[in-house]
Amino acid sequence: MTQHKWTTPEIRKRAEELLAQMSLEDKAGQMTQYDWGFNPINPETGLSQRDVLLEQISEGRVGSIFNISGVEEANQLQKLVLEKTSSAIPLLIGRDVIHGYRTVFPITLGQASAWNPELARQTAAAASREAHADGVSWVFAPMIDVTRDPRWGRIAESLGEDPYLTTEYAKAWVEGAQTNDGPGLAVASCPKHFAGYGLTEAGRDYNTVDLSDRVLREVILPPFKEAVESGALSIMASFNEINGIPVCANRYLLTTILREEWGFEGIAVSDYNSIQELIVHGVAADEEEACLISIKAGLDMDMSSGIYIRYLPKLVREGKISEQLVDQAVLRILAVKLKLGLFEHPFIEASDYVTTGALPEAHLALARQSARESIVLLRNERNLLPLNKAALSLAVIGPLADSRQDPLGCWAADGRPDDVVTVLDGIKSAVGANTTIHYAAGCDLTSQSEAGFAEALDAIHKSDIVVMALGETFEMSGEARCRTDLDLPGGQRKLVEAAAALGKPIVVLLLSGRPLTIPWLLEKADSIVQTWHLGVQSGHAIADILFGDYNPSGRLTATFPQNVGQIPIYYYRKKTGRPPGGIYTSYYIDSTTEPLYPFGYGLSYTSFKYESIACKENQISKDDSLHVSIDVTNTGSLSGEEVVQCYIRDESASVTQPLKKLIAFRKIKLNPGETATVEFQIKSSSLAIIDADMNLTVEPGYFTLWVGPNSSEGESLRFNVVD
Ligand code: BGC
Repeated sequence: MTQHKWTTPEIRKRAEELLAQMSLEDKAGQMTQYDWGFNPINPETGLSQRDVLLEQISEGRVGSIFNISGVEEANQLQKLVLEKTSSAIPLLIGRDVIHGYRTVFPITLGQASAWNPELARQTAAAASREAHADGVSWVFAPMIDVTRDPRWGRIAESLGEDPYLTTEYAKAWVEGAQTNDGPGLAVASCPKHFAGYGLTEAGRDYNTVDLSDRVLREVILPPFKEAVESGALSIMASFNEINGIPVCANRYLLTTILREEWGFEGIAVSDYNSIQELIVHGVAADEEEACLISIKAGLDMDMSSGIYIRYLPKLVREGKISEQLVDQAVLRILAVKLKLGLFEHPFIEASDYVTTGALPEAHLALARQSARESIVLLRNERNLLPLNKAALSLAVIGPLADSRQDPLGCWAADGRPDDVVTVLDGIKSAVGANTTIHYAAGCDLTSQSEAGFAEALDAIHKSDIVVMALGETFEMSGEARCRTDLDLPGGQRKLVEAAAALGKPIVVLLLSGRPLTIPWLLEKADSIVQTWHLGVQSGHAIADILFGDYNPSGRLTATFPQNVGQIPIYYYRKKTGRPPGGIYTSYYIDSTTEPLYPFGYGLSYTSFKYESIACKENQISKDDSLHVSIDVTNTGSLSGEEVVQCYIRDESASVTQPLKKLIAFRKIKLNPGETATVEFQIKSSSLAIIDADMNLTVEPGYFTLWVGPNSSEGESLRFNVVD
């Protein structure tokens, strides 16, 4: 069992003392969380949901709320609890702080493309600081669902398709989000969604998940395990069923793995209403049974449904569950509240830190850096980019060029469009006085109307170079935003085709929440820049790239398919038994099996050469480490950053293995002509597989190892592992 223990004897003692004073209703209350932002009026009573909640809070029937309006409300509600309830246990106040709070950072998929977990640690910490100043003590982040399906809207919130990269980010993000670098500043993180949610069938949100224990343990669970080991104070159970059992009812996940194997001490909270959804899933006949199944599975807190407070006391009194089961959950919740220091600091001093004042300078600088590093240069024919800032005339075209809302992305609950630097703003503030800008939206993102084309084509006529800001609205990715057509929506493709017919050099910026299927665009655009939804500093970061003030260093963490029919397509795939060639092989008769852009791909304005791969030993024993080195030289004329990626393949194992598996990476900066010898010390645990008996083991035999710029290229060597 993994031993990450954050509770102390004092915390445990204090929690026991508090528990001893509590009634059954107090206990079930602690296990109950409501959405304060959801406030319908009950037509029968005329009461709003909030009126009812206020009543329940003052009776000690609520342990946590989320979606409050700010610090004043937070303090009022804590005051209510402390003054009115006998147990006087402060509320945990939650919020979805996914990619920023008031300072909105790039969507998670963008931050992953930076291959810079340390930067994500900083954005997560900045977001927690802002959220905490606004009354929040619990952030429902990080989102660490591995996914292989760009149809799924929540790929935008994810770190992409790779378990290793997601695991590296999980650690940094949890530690960053749980920063406590200020007096009374303490925030719990909530890695989610545990587990398997990202492997939803057909890329449709909330859909069935059926996966083997092997894929669960190799691909899905490692980031969660790392999050637990990094001290995450809570975890969120996902909506989906997994192998026939919805997660809230899944004892194997919530107890066997989470508690018994990993020793997790924090809170397991349901997702929104998902205890209630056990009835809809068809595994519980009614609310009482849903309650019974969830508590037995090991779920500590009920988000939104109110089922725990309605049924837990009854189930204990009728002897259907032991009170000890309830106590165990309450002790975990109390331990988190004690760990956060909520009893010592229930109130947050009101400040204009983020709610009324300007965004903190340091956070803006971080947002710009994070946004620059998130951008992936996909294509740059004839080195069209970077553009010259001085003396040119530029057409800035496209429905996203002057959008303030869309760059905030899918989870920017507290971001404000007014804080966003648009693409147009960014370009205008970067160029010199002699540069003329001709702007026209050209079309919108949802209709096929060509009414705006003439204005856009006129702007292009008058210009030397065209920059087109295209993609998806913020509402086209995120929860319940799945798509089956992953091409540019609305009239955008026609707009590009019309623009290309004019023969001017074209740069396309793709502001999307997911990989799009755009093979046709390669014929039309000289340069393609994947910018995602980059948050408040979007325009500045994009201008930094366009004009070469920052050399692009982002690399894809989700494969770009050629077409929807290839999905799921991901680099971590296996061979089949079929040799290549001939008819009866694993291929499509109407499409290539290769992606448009592979995992790890991204260009720079300079070029890098990889050579002299070597390892100190070409044979190691099962417990040794392997020392690999490679020389990487900047062979271009600009300094730039390169993400040096290391992959392995176990050539022959007792269980089939992926063709390539990322096991290490390093982001380095090189000046023109400079060479770095990059070294990796590969621990034997990176070579381990899960064998037929589900044991993690390193098997003797040959391995191939690659070091290179993406999952499709690189220098390789072979080594042997012996007993
Ligand atoms: C989402 C979670 C989120 C929760 C609370 C759910 O619909 O799946 O990711 O944390 O709502 O807003």
